[in-house]
Amino acid sequence: MEEKQDIRQRRRLAVSRPKAGAAALAALCVLALWGCSGGEKKAQADKARPASVTIPGDPEAGRRVYGQYCHYCHGTEGRGDGPVSIGISPHPADFTTDAKRMSKTDAELFKSISEGIKRQIGGEAMFMPSWKDILTEQERWDALAYVRLLEKKGKEKNAKAAAR
Ligand code: HEC
Repeated sequence: MEEKQDIRQRRRLAVSRPKAGAAALAALCVLALWGCSGGEKKAQADKARPASVTIPGDPEAGRRVYGQYCHYCHGTEGRGDGPVSIGISPHPADFTTDAKRMSKTDAELFKSISEGIKRQIGGEAMFMPSWKDILTEQERWDALAYVRLLEKKGKEKNAKAAAR
């Protein structure tokens, strides 16, 4: 009898703190779902197509991320001429002309965006911040999708200017 009551009490205790429990449970469910279904399927889909053809980013959403975090250095058109870039030597990547850099795969560029870049060039340190603690994975893919759009638009514009 005493034991039964103990269990009931414990149950009541468990029920009386539902909020944190429910949130944790919901998070677990999401993780579990991702793990068993969507996530794996997505991973398979990612493997099936080359990373440089389609990326899981939305350029329209990326435009907002870029306008908030990236244009200071990379410039509104991605030409490496943002206001902050003046103080960085050498200047940040010009996405529209730096063919060698932009021939990297999306996976490689995504890694650069996530981890950041630190390089020592002739005694001067240059760096791009690591974005993985600031932006979600989706936001980083979105930003990259927008960078690819800027690259494409910029190249077209460069070609037109050269033809004139
Ligand atoms: C503080 C200035 C700064 C900011 C802000 C910044 N970057 Fe960069 N980024 C750089 C510099 C500098 C480089 C070039 C590094 C080099 O030459 O190795 C670079 C390089 C890159 C590259 C090329 C990476 C590679 O592997 O060659 C990409 C893509 C990129 N940035 C995207 C972004 C995105 C997206 C954002 C916003 C979320 C962002 N950057 C914000 C400074 C910045």
